[in-house]
Amino acid sequence: MILYKNDIEKLRSLIASHTKTFLLLDENSEKFCLQYFNSIELLKSYTKIVIPSGEQHKNLGTVQDVWSQLIDNHADRKSLLINIGGGMVTDVGGFAASCYQRGIDFINVPTTLLGMIDASVGGKTGIDFQGLKNQIGVFSQPLAVVILFELLETLSKRELLSGLAEIIKYGFIVDKEFLTAKLLDNPVNPVDPVLIKKAIDVKNEITRNDVNEKGLRKILNFGHTIGHALETYLIDNHKEIRHGEGVAMGMLSALYLSEKYCGLNHQITSDYKDLYAENFNRFDLNGIPVEELMEIMRHDKKNEGGDIRFVLIEDYGKPVYDVVVKPEDIVDSINYLIDYQNDANYWGK
Ligand SMILES: NC(=O)c1ccc[n+]([C@@H]2O[C@H](COP(=O)([O-])OP(=O)(O)OC[C@H]3O[C@@H](n4cnc5c(N)ncnc54)[C@H](O)[C@@H]3O)[C@@H](O)[C@H]2O)c1
Repeated sequence: MILYKNDIEKLRSLIASHTKTFLLLDENSEKFCLQYFNSIELLKSYTKIVIPSGEQHKNLGTVQDVWSQLIDNHADRKSLLINIGGGMVTDVGGFAASCYQRGIDFINVPTTLLGMIDASVGGKTGIDFQGLKNQIGVFSQPLAVVILFELLETLSKRELLSGLAEIIKYGFIVDKEFLTAKLLDNPVNPVDPVLIKKAIDVKNEITRNDVNEKGLRKILNFGHTIGHALETYLIDNHKEIRHGEGVAMGMLSALYLSEKYCGLNHQITSDYKDLYAENFNRFDLNGIPVEELMEIMRHDKKNEGGDIRFVLIEDYGKPVYDVVVKPEDIVDSINYLIDYQNDANYWGK
């Protein structure tokens, strides 16, 4: 259930049906968002659990810490965990809640654009493990996802652009109108409520029809095979990357492969290169070890029987999933991305 600010009464009664309320925050959502959350006067009392921010903390140690604090504060099976934060907090909190005493209710209050339009919706929860993204987790639906646009006001431009990448993805996998109408109107306004609501509806619709990712839901992984590998490699090597930055780059490689495997018109790739350069900053990929990225991709959850599988598109809104791509073509698609990032026609300005 997606709730907006004018659904506050519904939210109040959802919360009231629980014995105790716990708020899970990271230090930034505590600093920037808790005050606003308190100002809407939903809760008389709560226990706060604060975890460190950042993907490097999306791990078992953090989940253990959440469980310990729930136990220390006598959380019972009718307790409620409200996750207030970006995708890292909602992934960790959803997972912690789903396993605690075999599952307690949780509500997501996303505070990043990426969290609003993607991570908090659809019921995927989990943590990274042994250097692999989202390796451990469960499908578990939040009782509600609460969208409060005001919470985006303190978000940095870089984080907003990270969310924008996932919105662009919906344009590729769902419909051209969505992409062309709003997104090709450069540069995009990532905090446009109409665009955000549309993106949330897209995510909600796709995931509602395939809760456990047996089929259609896989299309949401467009751009993620190489995107996740880049994210994993760079984080492991203590370099900065946002989830959406990996996806934005992974989508270019996926378009290259879509031309080769699905007959995608090159004009779509070319338009994306312009869109990318208009909205995102150049990302320096020089020196990235392609073979290490390949090794990470061999562990991708979408794989079956040792093949690396991709979501590709035949056209805007025409995704194809489970496409087995030859390793040499994956390498070519990464090199295509690296060449783009070094192409003075786009970045020489
Ligand atoms: N479950 C899913 O379906 C799903 C889908 C997509 C992504 N994800 C996951 O989501 C995570 C990425 O989420 P994210 O991009 O929101 O990152 P994030 O949660 O790490 O947040 C990014 C940064 O913004 C800070 N922040 C959060 N809200 C803020 C605010 N309002 N003002 C100022 N700073 C704020 C955070 O503390 C953090 O430093 C990844 O772990 C990814 O795997 C999950």
